[in-house]
Amino acid sequence: MELNGKRVTLGVTGGIAAYKAAELVRLLVRQGAAVRVAMSEAATRFVTPTTFQALSGNPVAVDPWDAGVANGMAHIQLAREADVLLIAPASADFLAKAANGVADNLLTTLTLARGCPLLVAPAMNRQMWHNPATQRNIATLAGDAVGILGPASGELACGESGEGRMLEPEEIVEELIAHFQPKPLQGRKVLVTAGPTFEAIDPVRGLSNLSSGKMGFAVARAAREAGAEVTLVCGPVALPTPRGVTRIDVTSALEMQAQVMLRAVTQDVFVGVAAVSDYRPRSVSEQKIKKDGSPPPVIELVENPDILAEVAALPRPPLCVGFAAETRNLAEYAETKRRAKKIPLLAGNLIQDGFGGDANRLTLFDDNGQRALEPAPKLTLARQLMARAAALLENPHAPY
Ligand code: PMT
Repeated sequence: MELNGKRVTLGVTGGIAAYKAAELVRLLVRQGAAVRVAMSEAATRFVTPTTFQALSGNPVAVDPWDAGVANGMAHIQLAREADVLLIAPASADFLAKAANGVADNLLTTLTLARGCPLLVAPAMNRQMWHNPATQRNIATLAGDAVGILGPASGELACGESGEGRMLEPEEIVEELIAHFQPKPLQGRKVLVTAGPTFEAIDPVRGLSNLSSGKMGFAVARAAREAGAEVTLVCGPVALPTPRGVTRIDVTSALEMQAQVMLRAVTQDVFVGVAAVSDYRPRSVSEQKIKKDGSPPPVIELVENPDILAEVAALPRPPLCVGFAAETRNLAEYAETKRRAKKIPLLAGNLIQDGFGGDANRLTLFDDNGQRALEPAPKLTLARQLMARAAALLENPHAPY
């Protein structure tokens, strides 16, 4: 229920993507939002107001002169009652009017009359999207602090392929949730590692661990929600990339080290969530090792570089945030690890709590003490961790 108590006015313009707005309403309501829908006349040719009424549980506004609304001011009322105005899909025509302050129907009028932030999810043919007029309008809207969500690239309703597809309803909801989060990392750069590493023994076998990547992906999403430009370097995991995050896939610890060290000096914060393999086989067999009756092979291991310690040892390191996964003595081991690696902030978790699941239990350690966070979904904990990192960036002695 990430949107509990939020009032969303959804404007639907005329376009084939209007059918996806129905699913969008369902997802918004499921996240706890109170949704009011306003449609353009053209949108009603694709989906009926009854559909939106049934899904939102509220009457749908189409007519700016609706006699059912007290004093006939539907546009003012819808704009006043919202925490955010979201237009999805937003047609080229709507964007042109909104960019120029035109108020000639219900949607454009309530856009002009709003007192709340405006987010638009464009959807149109790729040539309409790339037309200089549309691009000019988008630039104007972005300059007016309007949030532009997408569009995505892919198959378009007209049969062509390219940029112009409306974001999927799930992606729009993720953007809306991010919109409502505080922005203590605005303008900052955050680099995150996530998942396990895989150290090859031969072409089919290797050493790895059970990290799913969920905690690291949650940290990347929380950092982006907090306003940062986020790069995520991850080992082999099967998770969707959080919206707006740049993802770099790697396999081994050496590859992870190379990708991290390429970027570390330009970052404000580095968060090592990855369960990096401490060792790798000294040599990798080119061919599959066969069971041919000879004694089992002996695999000699060598130590992998400690990526977090290496970043922390840079002449001007970013604020380094480590993780420690322990089976026992969490406070003692975590604090020892933090001091050994010389990092300002570390999140400790027990292996039985942290690996694999959607929730976790974290204790934060820094020079100002320690704080046990309430057990919670990984995203909730990641937000708290990023808030602490942001506070320490501002003031290394920030009290809890
Ligand atoms: O991915 P999930 O299933 O969601 O699980 C999350 C998690 C349990 C993996 C995560 O919360 C966690 O605890 N990650 C760190 C796990 C770990 O093995 O830590 P460590 O004690 O080996 O390493 C301490 C710190 O040094 C970590 O920040 C690690 O990223 C870093 N490190 C370790 C070894 C190495 N060679 N290079 C490193 O950078």
